[in-house]
Amino acid sequence: MTQTVLLAGATGMLGGRIAHHLLTTGEADLRLLVRPGGARREQLAPLLAAGATVVPGDLTDPASLDASTGGVDVVVSAVQGGRDVVVDGQVALAEAAVRGGVRRYLPSDFALDLYAAPPGEVSSYDLRREAGLRIQGTGLEVVHVLNGAFLDLFVQPRGVLDLDDAAGTATFWGEGTERFEATTVEDTAHYAALAALDRDLPPGKLAVAGDRLSALDMVAVHERVTGRRYRQVSRGGVTELEALVHRVRAGDPDSPQAVVLGYLLHMLTGRAALTDLANDRYPQVRPRRYAELVEGARSAA
Ligand SMILES: NC(=O)c1ccc[n+]([C@@H]2O[C@H](COP(=O)([O-])OP(=O)(O)OC[C@H]3O[C@@H](n4cnc5c(N)ncnc54)[C@H](OP(=O)(O)O)[C@@H]3O)[C@@H](O)[C@H]2O)c1
Repeated sequence: MTQTVLLAGATGMLGGRIAHHLLTTGEADLRLLVRPGGARREQLAPLLAAGATVVPGDLTDPASLDASTGGVDVVVSAVQGGRDVVVDGQVALAEAAVRGGVRRYLPSDFALDLYAAPPGEVSSYDLRREAGLRIQGTGLEVVHVLNGAFLDLFVQPRGVLDLDDAAGTATFWGEGTERFEATTVEDTAHYAALAALDRDLPPGKLAVAGDRLSALDMVAVHERVTGRRYRQVSRGGVTELEALVHRVRAGDPDSPQAVVLGYLLHMLTGRAALTDLANDRYPQVRPRRYAELVEGARSAA
């Protein structure tokens, strides 16, 4: 039976793909909560053509949200922003959802297990944890989709690993053997859409992962696919990374550098590692692994 889903963030990177997968199930009557005057309305055209409808609303304007939640079964949030959007806005949407009789809410988590992460190390985790816990407090059935790092964005030869073909070096933090979980944006969106509509899914964390890998696993993939060999260089141990995170946070805890280094620290220490992976609940998703991405990029080049 069809469920009515209200999705916030459909003009964004992840939200647009969640919308696509919700529509593909054929089981969602999809409403897109879109702020008036948003710059990326053109992203909505294929979703509207596939049957979605737009409901105007801005998470920073609580009065604009009440008209959006009546008759909705499930709210999915894939928003991004500062405290006004991630905490105050998502909570305001939850309160409007309660008034509208909504059953389930998926907040914009989509990370390592930010609920297990110690506070004060990554500001974006702190905001989303605060939001998630307050939304749980409304009494809605809350599902936290946790996917690790985005495999196709964060886990690239940049943040986690620097491959320098000219110098022949592979540079990383730590020993290079520390494993972490990662999932592509597309696979995360697919899992989120299925979880939103899965009536038997109990509330709580839904952890999924396309891959569990380390910097040296990534190097091995590149060496196998390209035939090259890389000299391994560590930027420093986890203790040095932790000290750097504290220094950068002391300057500006919300700076992109502070957030990215904080993510790396959590990936290497396992402090926010995913447990109890639920991939098997949705066997129709065959999540891609890092090797497939590298092989695909190689054959497309
Ligand atoms: N695990 C990882 O490695 C990783 C990496 C990146 C992101 N993420 C997570 O994925 C989630 C989505 O991120 P993203 O990069 O897809 O975000 P994004 O592309 O920046 O999109 C953000 C969305 O939020 C909407 N939005 C912002 N403020 C709003 C407001 N006041 N009212 C209504 N809508 C508003 C935007 O609408 P407009 O078009 O109107 O601006 C847009 O649709 C976030 O939880 C983010 O932290 C995880």
